[in-house]
Amino acid sequence: MEPRRNVELKAHDPDPVRTLERALAAGAEEHALLRQRDTYFAVPHGRLKLREEEPGGATLIAYERPDDASERVSNYRLVAIADSDELRAALTAANGVSAVVVKRRRLLMWQTVRIHLDEVRGLGSFVELEAVAEPGSDLHRERAQVAELRLLLDIRDEALREGSYADALGARAGEPDPELLAMARAAAARAYAPYSNFPVGAALRTADGRRYAGANVENAAYPQGQCAEASAIGALVAGGGGAIAEVVVAAPSDQLVTPCGGCRQRLREFAADDAPIHLADLERVRRTTTLAELLPLSFGPEHLAA
Ligand code: THU
Repeated sequence: MEPRRNVELKAHDPDPVRTLERALAAGAEEHALLRQRDTYFAVPHGRLKLREEEPGGATLIAYERPDDASERVSNYRLVAIADSDELRAALTAANGVSAVVVKRRRLLMWQTVRIHLDEVRGLGSFVELEAVAEPGSDLHRERAQVAELRLLLDIRDEALREGSYADALGARAGEPDPELLAMARAAAARAYAPYSNFPVGAALRTADGRRYAGANVENAAYPQGQCAEASAIGALVAGGGGAIAEVVVAAPSDQLVTPCGGCRQRLREFAADDAPIHLADLERVRRTTTLAELLPLSFGPEHLAA
């Protein structure tokens, strides 16, 4: 089956009472008041969450969307779940949980657009618009609907938010993207490091929400070995390239493991000076740093462009 598609937008809502009034004045109809608990699992591709809803039931939701703050297209699949406790336990055992998001949602419908007025525990109030696409739609109508409703609800540019609530919960605490951390640790577990016995994993997230991982790969001819960061950068380039917004380096070490000098320069090619670089072991993030700190007075592509 083809995944379903939405054109959607998320924004911080400084005044939910006013937004509700505007929505009703625009002809939106109230459909439900829901309590939702979303458990996000640490998976290597896209996002996977178990939604437990009252009233309602449980749904497993797999989705992918670029993390872009303005209108964006999401591909998703919904699977109705009969035994949510058992599924949560099975997926937690297999993947680990990256975040739990609890919210109260007021659901309204305007034309075929879902309006979510969300009160998210630990984050505050948000408004989401989701225009559900017909199969085969070129998304023109859905984009126009979202743009029109955005005007009617007075959603300003500065209120737009990229990423999911799960990302926002992590980012607020200065913590790494949970999926990225899980990917770096998984890569470290698969590293090929028989000579040093020093496995390392690295994972990179692009500004548009793609994630790539790599492990160190050693060789009997020692100098041919490659660091985890270099492997991850290769995966990034093969996957379409782009700017690096966040880095995790993970190693099962009781010391802080920092990128080697060569890899600092490799990261410099793709990452901004202030992109967070999280240095983790298997239990915790020991330190979060930046390229500015790791590689001061550096030389990069823009020096050649001048
Ligand atoms: N290594 C990495 O992969 N990344 C780092 O940030 C530090 C070091 C690898 C290279 C080599 O395979 C092993 O760790 C020991 O130096």
